[in-house]
Amino acid sequence: MNEVGIDGVEIRTGKLQLDLAETFAPAQGEDPGKYTKGLGLRASSLPDVYEDIVTMGANAAHRLMERKGVDLEDIGRIDVATESAFDKSKPVSTYVAGCLEQVFAGDLHHANKGERKFACVSGTQALDDAFNWIRAGRSRGRKALVIATDTALYERDDPGEATQGAGAVAMLIDEDPDVASFSTLQGYGSADETDFLKPNQQFPSVDGKRSMQVYLARMREALEDLETAGADTHPDNFALIPFHTPFPGMVKKAAVLGYRHCIRGTDIEAEIADEIGRQPRPEAFDDGEAYLDALKEYTDKLAETTQYAEWYERTVAPTLGISEHVGNWYTGSVHIARAAGLKAAAEDARDLTGQQMLVASYGSGAQAEIHAETIQPGWADEISQLSIDEQIQNRYDLSFEEYEQIHDVHNHDAETDLEPLTTPDGEFVFDGWGRMGERKYTYVE
Ligand code: COA
Repeated sequence: MNEVGIDGVEIRTGKLQLDLAETFAPAQGEDPGKYTKGLGLRASSLPDVYEDIVTMGANAAHRLMERKGVDLEDIGRIDVATESAFDKSKPVSTYVAGCLEQVFAGDLHHANKGERKFACVSGTQALDDAFNWIRAGRSRGRKALVIATDTALYERDDPGEATQGAGAVAMLIDEDPDVASFSTLQGYGSADETDFLKPNQQFPSVDGKRSMQVYLARMREALEDLETAGADTHPDNFALIPFHTPFPGMVKKAAVLGYRHCIRGTDIEAEIADEIGRQPRPEAFDDGEAYLDALKEYTDKLAETTQYAEWYERTVAPTLGISEHVGNWYTGSVHIARAAGLKAAAEDARDLTGQQMLVASYGSGAQAEIHAETIQPGWADEISQLSIDEQIQNRYDLSFEEYEQIHDVHNHDAETDLEPLTTPDGEFVFDGWGRMGERKYTYVE
């Protein structure tokens, strides 16, 4: 059976940036270290006046299709994953299709379109849907276009405000993919949780500290479920481990717990036992609290070992290289982590063909999903064509006053008139409202 997976990927950031250390921290009366060291973030990407989830998604898809020589007739399915949808009935994928039909010959009337929702994990679920559609023999040789797009804005002065972001990731899913193929083994950790939700409201209600605990708990369950499914999770099996990255500090916390879990009973645990002892086992403790204290002490020591540091630098640190400059993109975050890891590996001339990535997704509400992907021969060529470094470099740097205005522009409940801060150039733009309250889009040459 042919491999199925990601044949191409494109990333589109919002064109504005909020510098967290220079601009946000002083205005909030906070130490810049809280953001740069504590959360691990330098800046947030934000959308200009004429940008939204449709323009960012369509602009990413447009560049991807042009680059890969894909026409509209080659696309059999478009799924958009988002937590920022502005319509409860008409899916964002129809707007994106309308945009693409403005610039490519033909139409997308034959393509099945939909929208996926489960907080930040829905981008990965949309990849799953595409995989299943192709493997079920229903694609008639066509590709699936999966777009994860969000404007991750929080209420002003919510603790989450520091982790905002805006951007889209477009991915083509096909047989014989150039970037990575999906394994059929998956692990899930899913529970009815109320850590982050938007009950008929634009900005989320968030219990931030709880969401971090839920992230870790569901990830652990997903890892255990993956092992139950038969996967060998020895840490040396993976060249890269992209995590859902609401902010890099979250991934740091998850990585050491994951490493501890995966070395249990392995040669690595034995090798470092002289230095830090073996992991505490629950059966050796009468009292649960004493066991947890011992586990914490072991984990703190583990984080200081050379073995852990080398593993983290090789498999996890490279995946954070884009997130730290753009913030949380919700559905797109784990997919920019994958791209960042591959991009850093290509820049370091690592030969990853045939090696595995362990991709760990999470969505509040809550569900984690973990699966392996095999890196394909075309990966370095494909990833070297990303333009995300230039896009990050070229963002307009907001003053705090401009940030306040732009937040209002994108707030559905605020009335603000603001001239664009950048000039559109060869891209789709939001162009006002139609007769039934629909959003309209034009391509600007
Ligand atoms: N230098 C270095 N580190 C600093 C610092 C400084 N001057 N000031 C604070 N820090 C550290 C804190 O110790 C903390 O790290 P720790 O968790 O390892 O202890 C980190 O920076 C963040 O500070 P904290 O006071 O906890 O931030 P906060 O309470 O304002 O908000 C979140 C943090 C994550 C709760 C908030 O950003 C949020 O709600 N985010 C949205 C939800 C989210 O992303 N959840 C993740 C799972 S999906």
